Order: sequence, then structure tokens, then C-alpha cells
Amino acid sequence: KWPTHVTIKEVGPRDGLQNEKAQIATEDKIAWINQLSKTGLTYIEITSFVHPKWIPQLADALEVATGIERVPGVTYAALVPNQKGLEKALATQVDEVAVFMSASETHNRKNINKSIAETFPVLEEVVKMAKQEGKAVRGYVSTVFGCPYEGNVSIEQVIRVSERLFAMGIDELSLGDTIGIATPKQVQEVLEAVLQRFPKEKLAMHFHDTRGTALANILVSLEMGITTFDSSLGGLGGCPYAPGASGNVATDDLVYMLHGMDIATGIDVKQLTEAALFIRDKIGRPLSSRYLQTIAR
Ligand code: HMG
Ligand code: MG
Repeated sequence: KWPTHVTIKEVGPRDGLQNEKAQIATEDKIAWINQLSKTGLTYIEITSFVHPKWIPQLADALEVATGIERVPGVTYAALVPNQKGLEKALATQVDEVAVFMSASETHNRKNINKSIAETFPVLEEVVKMAKQEGKAVRGYVSTVFGCPYEGNVSIEQVIRVSERLFAMGIDELSLGDTIGIATPKQVQEVLEAVLQRFPKEKLAMHFHDTRGTALANILVSLEMGITTFDSSLGGLGGCPYAPGASGNVATDDLVYMLHGMDIATGIDVKQLTEAALFIRDKIGRPLSSRYLQTIAR
């Protein structure tokens, strides 16, 4: 009932760092991404081309995207909120761009300063132009399992937003538990509805581990046929426009669980651990990953 291979999409350099108060040096980000490129990961979301006032930590997006060493076989992606962000991303060599919006109205406004209805045409243009430029496009829906401002989010609303994103031509949809509030039962309910409409090959799950349910949610998703998961090394991360949101599920914890279940990821645990220790030392405090806490260095 479990797959034999899972694709892990490392979002640490973007989702992981975007919530860090202390500025990480551009050269350290580049060194970290270069290290991640050698772990066997096949996908790294390296930064985002958003307004630097909204996400000061990633103001060096251009320098990072042009400064890394690109390893063949690794897809380098960046988040873009609008046309301006896309133009910047296109000036670099990113392989893929990711657009994002929320299933809940209030989080969408707080995060990107537009209503949901106003966001659709903006993203439509971005997806169209990115495709014309030969880029793959990923779509994120945030607050799928709950909104920090509105509470419950209906499955119908998740489907509605997802349908619009797929109609724009996105290649993959990542369903975000922005505030880490989902439980396995809810994941099952949402996926049952979502899988009736969209192929599982085009879906990824993006769990934050705020309440410790992320791995349980991934297990349920695996059992329902999902084989792509977003995670952040060391468990870094969170959305600054979602109060109380903490890190993504830790890549190292996820890899530990998957390898223990005989599910291949292509990732070398030793290299991955080195990369986790590197960023932990740059951040200067222990990270939330459990796996890392078993490494006595
Ligand atoms: P806005 O203020 O409404 O933008 O911000 P605007 O279009 O009105 O333009 C205002 C000014 O910003 C103009 O400059 C634009 O040129 C400039 P001025 O003429 O005043 O000098 N501008 C830009 N500058 C740089 N890069 C750009 C850009 N666009 C406009 N791309 C905007 C709207 C979307 C830009 C802003 O709200 C923003 O940057 N938001 C980003 C928020 C964010 O990054 N949140 C975290 C990522 S989402 C997330 O974490 C969730 C996820 O992980 C999944 C999950 O967990 O659920 C993906
Ligand atoms: Mg996130």
C-alpha cells in the first residue's frame, strides 16, 4: 500500500529562511544550496521574487539565483507573486516558478494584498508568460486545512481555487497546511475530494509541523497515493503572514521515516545531515528537526 519511491521537494532556502529574523549572508545561502544540490535532492526551491519589504530575508533573490552552482538533474525553483517577480526570475536561470495564493480570503489579502478574485487574473498572466518562456510552473494553495484569520476553510473553496490554477496550466499543485493544523482524518477527507478531480501525479502535499501532525499527515497522504512532498531541512520555516505558523516538516525526519519504510528518495542521509548542520550553525540555534537532535555535534 506504500509507494516504492517518493519525491521530496526541498523548500528550506525559501520557506525555511523566509521567517528567520536574523539575516543570513547571501554567500551562506549559496553555499547551503550548493550543498543541498549534492545530497541527491532533485528539486530545490531556492528563493522568492517577492517584495523585499514583505520578506526582507529574501531580498537577495537575484544574487542567490545567479550565484549557485547548478547541478544537472536538479530542478531549481523560485516563488513569484506577480509579473514583476516573474520578470526578475526569468532574468536568472531558474527552471521552474511557483505561483501562490490562499483558499481563504483573509490570508490571501494579508499575504499578497489582493482578494482571491483579484489574484486569479494576475496569476493567469504569470503562468501564461512563464510557459511561453519554457518554464515549468507550480501552483500553491495555502490555508487548505485552516486559516489563521478565518478558521475553517471549506473543501469546496479549496477545489474552486485549485481548479482555477489547473485551468491556468500549472504542472503541479501543492496543497499547503500553512499553519500546521491538519490531522490525518482531515487530510483523508480533503484528499478524497481533491483526488476525484485531479490526478495524484499532479499533486504534492506541503505540511507545516506546528502541532506535530505533519508526519502522520504524510503517512495518510502516502496511503492515498500521493508521492510528492515538500519539506524543509532541519524543520526551518513558516509564513510571516500567518501568525503562529512554524516550520515545514523536516526533510531529515521525513527521509528517516521513508527510508525506514523501504521507500526510496535518492537522498544520501550523510550529505543531508552535513547540510543541516551547516545551516543550523549559520542560524545559531538548535533546529526543530528530531533527527538532527540525535546527531551529537
Ligand atoms: P503590493 O504592495 O500590493 O504590490 O504587494 P503592488 O503591485 O501594489 O506594487 C507596489 C510596489 O511594489 C511597486 O513599487 C511595485 O513595483 C513593487 P513602487 O512603484 O511603489 O516603487 N513590487 C515588487 N517589487 C519586487 N518584487 C515584486 C514586486 N511586485 C510589486 N514581485 C506583493 C503585492 C505580492 C508584491 C506583496 O504582497 C508581496 O511581496 N507578498 C509576498 C508575501 C510572501 O512572500 N509570503 C510568503 C510566501 S507564501 C507562503 O509562505 C505559503 C507557502 O509556503 C505554502 C503554505 O505553506 O501554505 C507557499
Ligand atoms: Mg509553507
